Amino acid sequence: MPQPATPPPSSSAIVPATGAAAAAPAPTERFAARTAGMTASEIRALFAVASRPEVVSLAGGMPNLAALPLDSLAGEVGDLVARDGQVALQYGSAQGVPALREQICEVMALEGIRADPDDVVVTVGSQMALDLVTRIYCDPGDVVLAEGPSYVGALGSFAAYQARVVHVAMDEHGLVPELLREALGSLAAQGITPKLLYTIPNFHNPAGVTLAVERRAEVLEICASYGVAVVEDNPYGLLGFSGRTYPALRSLDRDVVYLGSFSKTFASGLRVGWALVPPAVRDRLVLAAESATLCPPSFTQMLVSRYLAGHDWRSQIKTFTEAYRERRDALLDALETYLPDGCTWNVPDGGFYVWLTVPEGVDTKAMLPRAVTARVAYASGTGFYADGFGTRQLRLSYCYPTPERITEGVRRLAGVLEAELDVMRTFGTPARPAFGAGGPQTPSPSTP
Ligand SMILES: Cc1ncc(COP(=O)(O)O)c(C=O)c1O
Repeated sequence: MPQPATPPPSSSAIVPATGAAAAAPAPTERFAARTAGMTASEIRALFAVASRPEVVSLAGGMPNLAALPLDSLAGEVGDLVARDGQVALQYGSAQGVPALREQICEVMALEGIRADPDDVVVTVGSQMALDLVTRIYCDPGDVVLAEGPSYVGALGSFAAYQARVVHVAMDEHGLVPELLREALGSLAAQGITPKLLYTIPNFHNPAGVTLAVERRAEVLEICASYGVAVVEDNPYGLLGFSGRTYPALRSLDRDVVYLGSFSKTFASGLRVGWALVPPAVRDRLVLAAESATLCPPSFTQMLVSRYLAGHDWRSQIKTFTEAYRERRDALLDALETYLPDGCTWNVPDGGFYVWLTVPEGVDTKAMLPRAVTARVAYASGTGFYADGFGTRQLRLSYCYPTPERITEGVRRLAGVLEAELDVMRTFGTPARPAFGAGGPQTPSPSTP
């Protein structure tokens, strides 16, 4: 006969005596030390205001999906559920759908990579791959080298795992090998070997530059000579305006950890990216992926796979790049027409971004609220550095707004800049505190 259940202990048995409750730590005090590095990116914080329709947002790097063939994609989604729903809606392999991994190898072949599908790990966007790679390589305090400036999402992952970032400057041809050698030499003198070089060789986010082909082997040689692993992040490589592609670092060295994504060449909302890693790294990466998600979503992977198999995706990429080139041209024309003297910027040959340097004395982070009031948004430069640099820089994304909106946005930005310069002319350059809004202003190797 079932026994009556034992009554639960009275609440007085588990709640600490009066007085102890008052001493209980706040929930945030129980967090791990590594959460201190997890701060909201300025760009994310900006999204809410910048997405108001009256604001021209040149801030976020949202791909322009207007050119996607939505009707035929709707057909693919319906067909996927009707025919393969039992698989697409089920758990899958932690490493990713095998057919998609084969297709990913065909995509990478466009940049000279010869890869085995067994070495591809599909992730939830390449952001997840970045997180996992940092997780398996970096202990707290480890040093990661990254271009200065660098991708804000990568800096977020490095901070979350308490890695320290040392920036290496770029010029108009990308990462400067001599400065990389110098940085490694000076770290070696302190007994430090960085774990990783994190680099975005093509159509850099946020700097817009591309690593010169002649420099690629040299960068790899330098890293090999210091025992530093190279992580190549390449979401924009197929978005060159001349149609030209560059040999991936991974095509020159099989030890490179390569990250790719369908976010910019197809649809960012599907969250399908990947890592191509040497076999010795793969098993650890798959285990790390398993602990994060069990497996990437079968549904979106199978949709991407159908898209690659049944659509002329190369032409679709061409359509995208034509739209981006038109927008880049509108941005460059407007910068030339409206911006005050003393501003400089690069001319990107692909991708989404222009990196702008404003006149001495203007602080782009401090100026941002005034810009948003004037109904234009950008991403201020300091968010792209781990060391507080970038107060005179800002990133303009031309990928999303129409050319007309881009022109209007730059006209508004120019008005805000003129007003800042007027104030400076009237009251003199504001004295900058040693650790002001933009952080230390001492010369840094990361000055672009
Ligand atoms: C350089 C770089 N790496 C990675 C990502 C993340 O891409 P995904 O959407 O695949 O996570 C982005 C997105 O903007 C990026 O610019």
